[in-house]
Amino acid sequence: MNNKKKVYLRTYGCQMNLHDSERLLSLLAEINYDRCDRGEDADLILFNTCAIRDHANSKFYSHLGEIKRIKLANPQLLVGVGGCIGELEGAKLLAKFKYLDFVFSPDTLEKIPQIISTFEKKERSSAPVLLSNQCSLQEKFSFKDTKIVNKGPRAFVAIMKGCNNFCSYCVVPYTRGRERSRPLMEVFDDVLRLVEVEGVQEVTLLGQNVNSYSPDDVNNTHNVCDVRDVRNVQVFVDLLRKLEEIDGLRIIRYTTSHPRDMSDELIQWHGSSNKLSKHLHLPVQSGSNNILAKMNRGYTIEHYLRLLEKLRTYQKEIVISSDMICGYPNETEDEHISNLTLLDLAQFDFIYSYAFSPRPGTAAALIVDHLSDEIRSQRLRELQLKQLAIQEKIRSKMVGKKYLVLVDGVDKRQQKLKGRTNCMRIVHFTPETEIPFGGASQLQRYLWKWVEVEVSSSTAISAQAHLLS
Ligand code: SAM
Ligand code: SF4
Ligand code: F3S
Repeated sequence: MNNKKKVYLRTYGCQMNLHDSERLLSLLAEINYDRCDRGEDADLILFNTCAIRDHANSKFYSHLGEIKRIKLANPQLLVGVGGCIGELEGAKLLAKFKYLDFVFSPDTLEKIPQIISTFEKKERSSAPVLLSNQCSLQEKFSFKDTKIVNKGPRAFVAIMKGCNNFCSYCVVPYTRGRERSRPLMEVFDDVLRLVEVEGVQEVTLLGQNVNSYSPDDVNNTHNVCDVRDVRNVQVFVDLLRKLEEIDGLRIIRYTTSHPRDMSDELIQWHGSSNKLSKHLHLPVQSGSNNILAKMNRGYTIEHYLRLLEKLRTYQKEIVISSDMICGYPNETEDEHISNLTLLDLAQFDFIYSYAFSPRPGTAAALIVDHLSDEIRSQRLRELQLKQLAIQEKIRSKMVGKKYLVLVDGVDKRQQKLKGRTNCMRIVHFTPETEIPFGGASQLQRYLWKWVEVEVSSSTAISAQAHLLS
């Protein structure tokens, strides 16, 4: 008989949060919890939340509201909220939502098994709120990933957390704290284990600002963004070089990086490395120097474009994607046009674009803003349409070319296999020898294998191909 307990976990936000959820599930497995797909079946419900924009915030609150009914039907159920809203709101959440049992933060994941056992033994003395300020310095630095069991050839490995940049619009420095980096050899040992023991071929090094990776104490001595130590970037390149030595590791990706920390050494390594991904995500945020200065980004658009030029000179195959924010407070029509112009100049492979969302506690939220939400949304639509047209042209150059893709699933209609190229482009294809293709049922034969395809047509977001090998 299966006497395992069940956890229902909902994750919002970025890859760091997805990775934190993987760590949470590994920690919970050690105390006999298995994941389930419905809150109604669970003994424990956890929310790993995101506060980056109002939309993510609201989504979580509406899902939390739905839990009340489940808790009323099952009073033994435990409900916990973690992630960035957990850290920001803390005890206020418990006061407002009486059916919530505990609150935690990205720094206190390791304490979850202990808190659950306290509840199970009914030892609770006061409402538990486990935030970053309750951790010792040592605990805040402890985020060894060795417990994570991986289920495929792709894996995330956190190398640093926190952010010192304080971009004027961004809540992350308040939710994830200052930058902390894991020791280089600890990261190396993690990746080695993932490759040798779990068959991982592709790692993504994670952090809010990975290219300021600095495992000694350099990062922890300053709080403000105008202090930079060139050792930081060299140490990041040292880490990349060291990981390159691991036999069996095929692709090394990293995200997210900051243009200000994109050193010449790192750019040159993109040219000479055999394993660094041919895709780089390098958020620019705005095409206007005036807005970049207001955002406290620490670079000009000329500097950013020079980075792209150098990257493309050293690595001819590199494709670059970015993040952009439309409608920063009081953004003028000319500044918006600078965003559109940047798209032409940068030729991004894709972008994540957002309407500015004021986040409580950030500098930009204090600005008296005369821009209406309608204009913001309209500018966002205009930006997205322009980018899609650019993307379509870029992707059309794939037609007739051969690519290696790692098969990772089937398309939504379950009629084609789906995979990604080294540069992260999605390719759909049918194994022509197996028509009619059986979709999900035939997937096992190809899943997580590298195959060669030839692209026959493309759109702005995907390519259609046929299998060559
Ligand atoms: N650390 C990364 C960087 O420096 O670009 C990105 C971190 S953030 C998790 C992801 C993206 O969310 C940002 O690049 C930015 O475009 C967007 N973002 C952050 N705060 C925002 C806000 N208040 N309104 C709209 N978009 C926001
Ligand atoms: Fe936020 Fe800026 Fe830090 Fe990125 S670099 S996480 S946008 S403060
Ligand atoms: Fe969201 Fe926190 Fe990530 S605010 S984007 S989950 S760092």
